[in-house]
Amino acid sequence: MNSYSYMTFNTPTTIILFGAMGDLAWRKLLPSLSDLYKRRNLPKDVRILGVSREQMSTTTFKDYVAGKVNGVSEEFLDILSYLQMDLLDEEAYHKLGAAILDMEHELGVDVRGNRLFHLAVPPTLYKEVFKNLGNSEVAIEGPTNWSRILVEKPFGYDSESAEELNSIINQYLKETQIFRVDHYLAKDTIENLIAFRFSNALFEHTWDNNHVESVHIKMYESGDVENRGAFYETVGALRDVGQNHLLQLLTLLAMDSPGELNAEKISSMRLGILNSLRVYSSKEEVAKNTFRAQYDSYRDTAGISDNSDTETYFAIRAFVDSPVWQGVSFLIEGGKGMPEDNIEIQVQFKRRTPCVCGVNGEGHEHGNRLTFSLQPQKQISIRFWVKKPGLEYVLESQELKYVYDDSKGLPDAYEQVLRDAILGNRTIFPTAQEVCAAWKFITPIINNWESVPLVSYKKGTMPLLQEFNKNL
Ligand code: BG6
Repeated sequence: MNSYSYMTFNTPTTIILFGAMGDLAWRKLLPSLSDLYKRRNLPKDVRILGVSREQMSTTTFKDYVAGKVNGVSEEFLDILSYLQMDLLDEEAYHKLGAAILDMEHELGVDVRGNRLFHLAVPPTLYKEVFKNLGNSEVAIEGPTNWSRILVEKPFGYDSESAEELNSIINQYLKETQIFRVDHYLAKDTIENLIAFRFSNALFEHTWDNNHVESVHIKMYESGDVENRGAFYETVGALRDVGQNHLLQLLTLLAMDSPGELNAEKISSMRLGILNSLRVYSSKEEVAKNTFRAQYDSYRDTAGISDNSDTETYFAIRAFVDSPVWQGVSFLIEGGKGMPEDNIEIQVQFKRRTPCVCGVNGEGHEHGNRLTFSLQPQKQISIRFWVKKPGLEYVLESQELKYVYDDSKGLPDAYEQVLRDAILGNRTIFPTAQEVCAAWKFITPIINNWESVPLVSYKKGTMPLLQEFNKNL
């Protein structure tokens, strides 16, 4: 730990969880906080305040946490409190301020301690929450404390609404207080894309359109929208995982070397790629390069209308218009209700020409393939070609693999998110410019989607992509 983070970890800190009774809090945030606490990876003096609309006492909240989150300690339960509050009620923020001050007094703080707010609430509330946090001065900063706000994706619904949120932030808060969350950037397997690409000379000279034929980034989830119907209906697959997670994977795959592990440099490299994405602004281009589908039982989910045209699967053929990547197609696809859980990035290299491919080698595909897998295995693998043992000269493919050792359990991405926000390390947080650049690519697709038929697929099967593939 450097001296800066040491100081941060020694300053009393309150973590305020907006949406404490929501899906994200229970699945990810509370378990991650409990694990961080167990491993002494939270500030020495820390309190956590759960905030939601539900009426309940701190004791009941603690009972819930004890019952629902695996392996919580008594010590962890001791640092929890609960506040019932309507985030849209401006007056209620004074009550919030008082509750935080109480906790800070318990921690022995004279003026104000560090405050980390996590907005695990529907994005429709962001605007009002930013205004109220600013007006009430609950998120005020001083010479001895910071106040930071973690905001979940999607940040906005399109370019215009994202810009509007940014301007509200600039009016009521400070941009430096905002940490836009994309938990994919916080995954160990994804952080490894940077480590792998920029610590090994092996692939460096083949990382361009002379050698790479195509890139395929896929996120297949076998699960359906479960109890998140009301949220999902307002976003759809493209806004849920395409505008953020998958485009960010594309940036890490395609970006130039940042030269060093520096948040600003890495972010500016990611931004460079987002800004070079070819924008499809006409109906024809969108129809040719994108595909959308919905699984058959989606409309039976609670909170979804009978004639919903929200996609649960999408595919986009993207191009990065830069001299390095001109002509290489980046296929990105994401969906729920898929036949399997399979999240990976495949880099398909061109076939070696001339190829000493041996008997019947001509016409065969003998390209190398590098795969970064997140699900179901966590691994990096390389497919290469060797001579098959025997008298004939025939090639066969083999694999070199690095499999993550998660026997001790890899930290959850949200542990990294929370810890880095406390440390003020911005490497894994997309900037306002990155989010807007991603919307610049996604918004015209969404706006032109009425010209792309919404195909139906049976849950647990792949949508039929024939028409889309014909355009290849
Ligand atoms: C979230 C999406 O951001 O990522 C979910 O809202 C998706 O729909 C989830 O299921 C997947 O995350 P992970 O970490 O389980 O791969």
